[in-house]
Amino acid sequence: MEFSIKSGSPEKQRSACVVVGVFEPRKLSVPGEIINKASNNHLSDLLRRGDMEGKSGTTLLLHNVPGTLCDRVLLVGLGKEKDFHEKEFRESVTTAVRTLNETGAYDATLTLTELPVKKRGMSWRIRQTILVVFETLYRFDRFKSKKDEVRRPLRKLTLIVESRTNLADAEEALAQGQAIASGMDFAKDLGNLPGNICTPTYLAEQALALSRDHKLKVEILERADMEKLGMGSLLSVTKGSHQPPKFIILRHDGGKSGEKPVVLIGKGVTFDSGGISLKPGAEMDEMKYDMCGAASVLGTMKAIAQLALPANVIGLIPSVENMPDGNASRPGDIVTSMSGQTIEILNTDAEGRLILCDALTYAERFSPSCVVDIATLTGACVIALGNVASGLFANNDTLARELLHAGQDAYDRAWQLPLWDDYQEQLKSPFADMANIGGRAAGTITAACFLSRYAKKYDWAHLDIAGTAWKSGEKKGSTARPVPLLTHFLLARTGIQTN
Ligand code: BES
Ligand code: MN
Ligand code: ZN
Repeated sequence: MEFSIKSGSPEKQRSACVVVGVFEPRKLSVPGEIINKASNNHLSDLLRRGDMEGKSGTTLLLHNVPGTLCDRVLLVGLGKEKDFHEKEFRESVTTAVRTLNETGAYDATLTLTELPVKKRGMSWRIRQTILVVFETLYRFDRFKSKKDEVRRPLRKLTLIVESRTNLADAEEALAQGQAIASGMDFAKDLGNLPGNICTPTYLAEQALALSRDHKLKVEILERADMEKLGMGSLLSVTKGSHQPPKFIILRHDGGKSGEKPVVLIGKGVTFDSGGISLKPGAEMDEMKYDMCGAASVLGTMKAIAQLALPANVIGLIPSVENMPDGNASRPGDIVTSMSGQTIEILNTDAEGRLILCDALTYAERFSPSCVVDIATLTGACVIALGNVASGLFANNDTLARELLHAGQDAYDRAWQLPLWDDYQEQLKSPFADMANIGGRAAGTITAACFLSRYAKKYDWAHLDIAGTAWKSGEKKGSTARPVPLLTHFLLARTGIQTN
């Protein structure tokens, strides 16, 4: 898709279709009013006759509107003006893009980018528009023999902004939106790929390919390397699988040399059967998404590389497959992590923390400015926060605030849960330094407590994305969350404004 930004009169746009918003009831947006005047009240006459109410989700396609230079005008319902906020803005763009793609308009001009959204500026509206366009047009059909071909798909989109807009800022927001969107498309594909294709080896190959396309350095640790490092916890998870484990290290050296890096760690379990503590059969296919933390790290690295972000960022991906077989870890097994702490594996299905703890220890060698891990870690998080917010934990309040704020800005929100010492009790083991589970109560928190024991040497945060990384049901598919949150976080930390 080709994007461009213009500030200009909507009625003078030579394009196949100009998209104009209508508030409920029957109130034209400002660009709509301009077209209305140019057309001698053509639009307001239609509205008065009751052709469109302006309810959100509705559209009306008009041909040959007098006084305009475009082939068509698409009216898009926005709902009530007083209720037009972030969500409604995104919905209106979704409706517009979906309709345009079905209309056969090859290129279109969007005036929705001009609509005011409370507390949000022009850059936000541009970024979100790009993200929604990609989101709406994304398809994962590489295994379908017959693809749903769109006869004349939308190829070119011009975004209209207010005349007083600083166009350089607008172009920057456009570049940010495109970078985040391409990182998200990459992450979505990885998430949606089945476990028989997206193995640890495949993830490592994708990291290598990414480093070739962009200015990134990559290193892959093999099983022998991990053995030498003493990653006994990570390796215990891979024992039942025929797929070799991989530990992926990606570096984006965009900052000054010597500047402490941000380290992102993504859980890369390419399929989580539960191991010997086997999961129930229903919906087990969705455990191919258990590498969505890894995918979000790869997607974020892609986005920041594309933006040439002036910061040092390291991505770590411990990747394994969790399977049961005669060699698999058993409940009751005791393993020694890279940190030296011993773990009694009471449940082989609590494997995410077992691979992350060694990655957290490995991160120490980079003297990070902070470490953020991202993991589809607990089913309990889906119960607590549903599919709306990712769970957030941190051992540093400033870092927590930065991440919460980035999530707000990116419309990819997180919600903080407590990491109080009182919960640590639940991880006591009679035989080892800790157990890998803490009972049914507060399952998301005790998982975070487990990780916190390996993150004592730096500022650390943990995002539990079990509820947000993919959608179930009819619209099953990866969401690529939290790529937007992470990219905004890194932009803000680099001093780049995103309002
Ligand atoms: N990958 C799962 C978490 C998960 C489950 C995410 C369902 C999304 C949907 C994780 O490895 C896991 O199995 N966690 C267990 C932990 C339990 C054994 C303490 C869980 O949540 O049931
Ligand atoms: Mn599991
Ligand atoms: Zn898992």
